[in-house]
Amino acid sequence: MMRRLLFAEESVMSNALHLLEDLEPSIQEFRDAVLSGLGTRQKTLPCKFFYDADGSRLFDEICNLPEYYPTRTECRLLGEHAGEIAALVGPRARLIEFGSGAGVKIRLLLGPLDRPAAYVPIDISRGHLLAAAAELALDFSGLKIMPICADYTKPFALPALSGSRPGIDVGFFPGSTIGNFTPDEARGFLSRVGRMLGRGSAMVVGVDMPKDESILLSAYNDKAGVTAAFNLNLLIRVNRELGGNFVLDRFVHEARWNGVLGRIEMHLVSRCDQEVRIGSDRFTFAANETIHTENSYKYTIDQFQAMAIGSGYKPKAAWIDEAGLFSVHMLEVHE
Ligand code: AVI
Repeated sequence: MMRRLLFAEESVMSNALHLLEDLEPSIQEFRDAVLSGLGTRQKTLPCKFFYDADGSRLFDEICNLPEYYPTRTECRLLGEHAGEIAALVGPRARLIEFGSGAGVKIRLLLGPLDRPAAYVPIDISRGHLLAAAAELALDFSGLKIMPICADYTKPFALPALSGSRPGIDVGFFPGSTIGNFTPDEARGFLSRVGRMLGRGSAMVVGVDMPKDESILLSAYNDKAGVTAAFNLNLLIRVNRELGGNFVLDRFVHEARWNGVLGRIEMHLVSRCDQEVRIGSDRFTFAANETIHTENSYKYTIDQFQAMAIGSGYKPKAAWIDEAGLFSVHMLEVHE
């Protein structure tokens, strides 16, 4: 993996932005993942590759859709309970956000926090990360912002902070992105982050909850077709970056509820028998065969807290909206 350090350009960034660590996944990593995913019996493509510039923009649109309840419900919860979170966290905390995206939710926490020591946004999409960090720097002048472009599912080191810092580290993982991992991957991620943050640190995690199937299906198959465009953008990306020849209207977006595993699945369904080339590799698709592109697991409070305990955390608090759609958990790193 390419590893380099970039110093933020003064013209783009405010003085509050110090350093960008750039660990963006390489094209080779994308190629390897695509070729191996399409080579298995149930074809798959990893959902982390949704987030190029277009995919990140489409995801921001999804978050504002009437059917997509998670974003607005979580924002309301964070807004209502930010004071309690700030009191539990204490002064001079360093906030580390995994998958910071447009940087909307962190604002809800930063407002009530007592003199935060720094904010470390981590995102796989470099352009999106920098734009969001620059905007945040304008609104929170004096806040030290240390963006890292990385695939946070892989190990990386946190930047050192100069000077004395009495506060704790607080990981922030909103949006129920934890649900895009398998339960085993989620435990692995939580354990690794817990070790990275250290005993006594905290984690604030947004977790989507099981609910009526019809609500879930319309959240992942909206009327305006934005989620379909988001899913199909993976094929556009393969065509553009890897020399693929997917014909987009030969695939259709589908969201399925898998009640046994407690997850929404996103698929791209082949409309016909066809062959697709990616560079010199060929892949055949039967009519109705699918590429499985994403899982979105939904957890009850008990299920998520059991997972957190098994990953070395002590649950400190959990907040749920009145309709029981979404939860925000505060955890302490225990082991
Ligand atoms: C980022 N992640 C939590 C979203 C989700 O709900 O699983 C991604 C998404 N996929 C389709 N719509 C939104």
